[in-house]
Amino acid sequence: MHSKTVLSGIRATGRLHFGSFLGAVQNFVKFQDDADTRCMYFVADFHTLTTLDDPEAMKLNLTEMVKDYLAAGLDPDKSILYAQSSIPEIAQLSMYLGMLQSFGALKNIPTYKDLVKKNPNRVTHGLFSYPVLMAADILGPQANIVPVGSDQIPNVELAQKLARKFNKRFGETFVIPEMLEEMVKVPGLDGNKMGKSDADNAISLTMEREEVHDRYRRFGVTDANRVSVSDPGNPYEDCLSVYPVHELVSPGEVQSRTIAKKCMAAEIGCAQCKGLLADRISDQLELFQERRASFEDKDEMVREILHEGGKKARQIIMPTIGLVSDKMGIVTY
Ligand code: TRP
Repeated sequence: MHSKTVLSGIRATGRLHFGSFLGAVQNFVKFQDDADTRCMYFVADFHTLTTLDDPEAMKLNLTEMVKDYLAAGLDPDKSILYAQSSIPEIAQLSMYLGMLQSFGALKNIPTYKDLVKKNPNRVTHGLFSYPVLMAADILGPQANIVPVGSDQIPNVELAQKLARKFNKRFGETFVIPEMLEEMVKVPGLDGNKMGKSDADNAISLTMEREEVHDRYRRFGVTDANRVSVSDPGNPYEDCLSVYPVHELVSPGEVQSRTIAKKCMAAEIGCAQCKGLLADRISDQLELFQERRASFEDKDEMVREILHEGGKKARQIIMPTIGLVSDKMGIVTY
């Protein structure tokens, strides 16, 4: 028996990029090697509908992302990999939880406010209740630990509040999930968080070495105060998108600070530093791409993994939904 459940989801908006690979998925992989932990990782296809453009593209993105998961090391024998929609009752649980969720608090969630600003013509009921659906994802399987990026913190907090509110009113039902903020934050080329839907600042997992070099050469943001190579640089505070990634991918850098020291001593220029980084990233990408290629023609296998994962996840989630229905006075005749 597992003593705790780790759960996280990702929207099916596109392929994984290097930021989510390093920051999120590699963490997921670590959890699955702890026999004490039940790992549940899903593709949030319902959530993807808030920004749906092309249904065919979404279908494809979903299975392609699962292949990315597999190539990154997630193992369907150790982790439950599933599509959110394989458990349609999550939508039912979301509806139940919505009965406890105040309108005002939802309206003040920062991610909602941002989206309203960015995309006023897409402010739907579905978008508004996005965090409630997310709470159902988390509370349905009684997840203990939810690793997420910092942008998702308010959503997980909302799930915690809903769990407390429900427990208070109807008696102990839900585990209060703990949030685990992504330990590794990967800056994109412009220095902001590397973002999946913001392809412009991202390094994709499909890029070839040449392209990685090219992107860092052209878009990488180093210390702006460093005018010539002979000026000492400030790798820690002023280098926005190159040195911080060295800390994540260059072996031994955090211990030895070899590259940082050279930068501060004006012994290495930004162009050279970018080149080194592009090589380290490409080394990791090549390993990934090799494994990824082996799943290219394995659509049938991916469908089977999702089917089995969906069945397992549903078995875990259904008892909670039964309990919630019962406590709220709903009888299935
Ligand atoms: N909203 C998350 C994101 O955009 C994806 C997600 C949906 C999720 N349901 C979840 C993450 C439950 C963690 C737990 O990244």
